Amino acid sequence: MIVRPEATPAAALGPLINTLVGPRPIAWVSTVASDGTPNLAPFSYFNVAAISPTPILMVSQSLRGGSEKDTLTNVRATGELTICVVTEEVADVANATSGDWPAGIDEWDVVGVTPVPSEHVRPPRVGESPAAFECQLLEIVELGTPEQPSNSLILARVVAIHVDDALVGADGRVDASRVHLVGRMGGEDWVRTRDRFPMGRPGGADPDDVRARFNTR
Ligand SMILES: Cc1cc2nc3c(=O)[nH]c(=O)nc-3n(C[C@H](O)[C@H](O)[C@H](O)COP(=O)(O)O)c2cc1C
Repeated sequence: MIVRPEATPAAALGPLINTLVGPRPIAWVSTVASDGTPNLAPFSYFNVAAISPTPILMVSQSLRGGSEKDTLTNVRATGELTICVVTEEVADVANATSGDWPAGIDEWDVVGVTPVPSEHVRPPRVGESPAAFECQLLEIVELGTPEQPSNSLILARVVAIHVDDALVGADGRVDASRVHLVGRMGGEDWVRTRDRFPMGRPGGADPDDVRARFNTR
């Protein structure tokens, strides 16, 4: 089949694209409102945008019933966010912080996770998450059209990275096998990431060698 976005309702396009683009990592985003009210929510429209000289992460937030959600409002107001990683150990509690609740509701209090003060920004990190990025807002890119806004893409500069020492191996590096990251697939499906396999890139390999291995045309 072929799907033409302009002729397809969002209610069908979303599930299709979310099924085909995955697994998506999960950002557990902590922000504070200008009056200090804390907020916490998970996002799967999340990824790395740059590493050097400055690491940049990106998170995309959609509207809810035509209105901006709390995370975006808070990031616009304060320019700060803390992004915690979501592992198997915290997947269900991270999911629970996605409730459609009014701005006054403090998700930290609802689910009972532990706020640990950040060093450079006001939003705390979740003590139960084994790693977190303290971030400052770089830019917000508005997506959609003026008549029909859709998402706001938050580009965030990483100013500090916290890693639980339990994840660090004897060589001083983070041991990937200890970080039990989860991801989001289509619908309500999530995925574990323990089934890993290494694969080197071709780098400067002779294209004829690559052709001999793969190309049967
Ligand atoms: C696993 C998961 C991933 C989500 N990803 C996104 C996302 O990428 N963008 C988005 O706008 N909402 C996403 N949501 C929904 C938000 O978490 C939800 O709307 C939340 O209430 C927003 O909170 P806020 O109003 O406190 O910002 C996701 C929900 C879950 C459970």
